[in-house]
Amino acid sequence: MTEPFYITTAIAYPNGDPHVGHAYEMIATDAIARWARLEGRPTWFLTGTDEHGIKMAQTAAALGITAKELADRNSARFRELAARLNLSNDDFIRTTETRHRDSSQEIWRRMLKNGDIYEGAYEGWYSVRDEAYFDESELTDGEGGKKLAPTGAEVSWVREPSYFFRLSAYAERLLAHFEAHPDFIAPDERRNEIVSFVKGGLRDLSISRTTFDWGIPVPDAPGHVMYVWIDALTNYITGVGFPDDQSVQFQTFWPANVHVIGKDIIRFHTVYWPAFLMSAGIAPPRRVFAHGFITNEGKKMSKSLGNVVDPHALLDEFGTDPVRYFFLREVSFGQDGDYSREKFVNRNNADLANNFGNLAQRSLAMIQKNFGGVLPTTVPEAVDSAIVDEATAAIGRMQTAMAGQLVHEAAAELVALLGATNLYFAEQAPWGLKDNLPRMGTILVTTADVVRRAAIVAQPLVPEAAAKFLDALAVPADQRSLVHALGNALPAGTHLPPPNPVFKKFEQMKPA
Ligand code: MF3
Repeated sequence: MTEPFYITTAIAYPNGDPHVGHAYEMIATDAIARWARLEGRPTWFLTGTDEHGIKMAQTAAALGITAKELADRNSARFRELAARLNLSNDDFIRTTETRHRDSSQEIWRRMLKNGDIYEGAYEGWYSVRDEAYFDESELTDGEGGKKLAPTGAEVSWVREPSYFFRLSAYAERLLAHFEAHPDFIAPDERRNEIVSFVKGGLRDLSISRTTFDWGIPVPDAPGHVMYVWIDALTNYITGVGFPDDQSVQFQTFWPANVHVIGKDIIRFHTVYWPAFLMSAGIAPPRRVFAHGFITNEGKKMSKSLGNVVDPHALLDEFGTDPVRYFFLREVSFGQDGDYSREKFVNRNNADLANNFGNLAQRSLAMIQKNFGGVLPTTVPEAVDSAIVDEATAAIGRMQTAMAGQLVHEAAAELVALLGATNLYFAEQAPWGLKDNLPRMGTILVTTADVVRRAAIVAQPLVPEAAAKFLDALAVPADQRSLVHALGNALPAGTHLPPPNPVFKKFEQMKPA
């Protein structure tokens, strides 16, 4: 496959430190991006930070620093987390960059030119934490007469001159788009929710603010800055070269293949965003995939409960690949998922250390010991061909899963393949074949070849560990793509370096 692939994360507000939910979104998106590259697709992976808006302005004011200072400080922390998670992003966008101001002003002008922007005054409820407007009917009563948004965030009454976007004019077109593109919203249950929301009728959207100035100036409208979500969503096209929509970059990668987002911001991505793009004469993205939230031992994480999982603490103790693997395998992509130390340790010990690591270590150590580290010639029997065929079939199923971004299913297929290979290894018992070295060699090389295939397709999940396996198997750098996992056995005569264990086993008790 050579079709280009463009994937994005949502861009987070850098009003505080990144939490495990941000880490999760980064990891999952990265695995999907790496899979596309494995398939040989020209890939662009964008992440970044969403730096404007009243929430940023207020947080900074409370800290006695400027919004720009706050953004600089925390954006760097998101970048640092991305690096520690071994993200393969091609770019990191900050919405305070000049390229992004130009891009946002251009999409505004196009929507204006299309007749979809008009001047008025907004009066209604606004939640700073959500950076979102709410209808009276959506609110509930909180303590002390406070009004709360559905997210539990406090809302306040806003009244100011504002530009509006004619969203009401887009309901039919959006519904037609959902109808014509059944894959546009994933998972499916989210799609139904959005369809009924749009069927309920859309109201025009207030898209500029005049009571503060931390935002992108509206073109030719002194005193107005853009509503932060206009600017935020536009990052996805800035990242591939907009406003230069004739550029090779834009022509190659837009429309995006997948926007990976949290389930709390689906409306922005599947209703507002395609409407803005339609208005500006730009194609909507192909797909929006909403993932769920991570709980800690079944409980919602919150500062007040003191149960917030710090991604850096996990990385410090366990390292990058185990953290990546746990979330990719444990959480069904699109559903909520749960973290606990127990699950984390069990998954990693069972799937990576035992299933994968031991299999590789045992077969490679026996090749060293019995064949001086040189791969012997094989004489495969039916049972050997069967496990290789199983590898091909499992990799095919991984491909299908990844085509729908079902990362957890792909990971499960990988583990099942390794399980089957462990069974094969145990049943063939090569250690008892000291007087039949040709047969022993065939079993060891067959096992090592399945490890090779498994390591190739494990690269998107656990890139460092997979590279160690492939190095141990002396697989050249240009033979580590999906096509190589589906063919091309290990050549006899290849010298292998002495193997080292790749995965550590973890303890259930936290070390003191
Ligand atoms: N900053 C927003 C949030 O954290 C997400 C923005 S995603 C974008 O909820 F598409 F709008 F950029």
